[in-house]
Amino acid sequence: MGKIILTGDRPTGRLHVGHYVGSLRERVRLQNSGEFEKIFIMIADAQALTDNAEHPEKVRENIVEVALDYMSCGLDPEKSVIFIQSMVPELTELSFYFMNLVTVSRLQRNPTVKSEIQMRNFEASIPVGFFTYPISQTSDITAFKATTVPVGEDQAPMLEQAREIVHKFNTVYGETLVMPDILLPQNKACLRLPGIDGKAKMSKSLGNCIYLADSQAEVKKKVMSMFTDPGHLRVEDPGKVEGNPVFIYLEAFSTPEHFARYLPEYAGLEELKAHYTRGGLGDVKVKKFLNKVLEEQLSPIRERRKELEKDIPYVYEVLKKGCDIARDTAAQTLSEVRRAMKINYFEDQSLIAEQVKKYQ
Ligand code: TRP
Repeated sequence: MGKIILTGDRPTGRLHVGHYVGSLRERVRLQNSGEFEKIFIMIADAQALTDNAEHPEKVRENIVEVALDYMSCGLDPEKSVIFIQSMVPELTELSFYFMNLVTVSRLQRNPTVKSEIQMRNFEASIPVGFFTYPISQTSDITAFKATTVPVGEDQAPMLEQAREIVHKFNTVYGETLVMPDILLPQNKACLRLPGIDGKAKMSKSLGNCIYLADSQAEVKKKVMSMFTDPGHLRVEDPGKVEGNPVFIYLEAFSTPEHFARYLPEYAGLEELKAHYTRGGLGDVKVKKFLNKVLEEQLSPIRERRKELEKDIPYVYEVLKKGCDIARDTAAQTLSEVRRAMKINYFEDQSLIAEQVKKYQ
């Protein structure tokens, strides 16, 4: 059996450069590697509703934004199935069966759920749907028989929980579901890109993101205003590169070719860092370089997005086709699941024969 990818994002906003280096860029590479038999990219609207139940319009309008971001980054509907979670009701059915295989205390111990509950100040008022989203995420993965789930590090506890559910299901009902593996980005800097203000996480509410849809001028403005080492006041001062967002971004985005093109006086990032650490290298010079590096990668994405924005009905058509394929695939798995769970009453001739015999 070939390898299958499933991954996705919650449609609660436009995607930013953190999504790009943390997952989108890798997805495109994997898509074009030819190593995968099938690739499913899911817009997780049902999951987004678990903490946005009162704002379905927010989820609704961001579906097309996320689809535009996907396609402009190079996800190709000819090679990857892009679909919307709620359009595949089989996923909900599967979650209902999985719920019997997971305890409340196990969910309470999930570190991602724990920290998200804190972040949202849910305390005692956690919606049940939100609390159980690791189960629903397991359905997303297993319904497509995914072998490989490329996600950020924050999703590691989700994959661990998914693997437990698969193991439990297969133990109780017989070997049915495929055991998935997580695939993390190789480059450490890509695991979590900080905000332009130096805060650990990029978030819409903090206003510290560089979006894929930002214009050239917006990107430049954001880069030039980026937080650096607050102790690096004058050019001559020695500076810190650890925890300095400008250098973390360079780790994530720059290549030796960028140095050859824009900063040939440095062999590469290590030399630039050494100069900054020693003193004598100004923030403005480093930021200008970062801006060029970013521009080189973002401008083709921005151009493709502009083209796609001219034909929104086409984007919806792509999604509709994706949903149809996704639904067929999930329906096939569900029929295997029902058979394994012995709840395929009308298909099972031996069951009917047994009952006939009992009453003869
Ligand atoms: N939880 C993921 C996120 O917040 C989105 C997601 C939903 C997902 N279902 C998934 C990711 C299944 C990977 C696999 O980004």
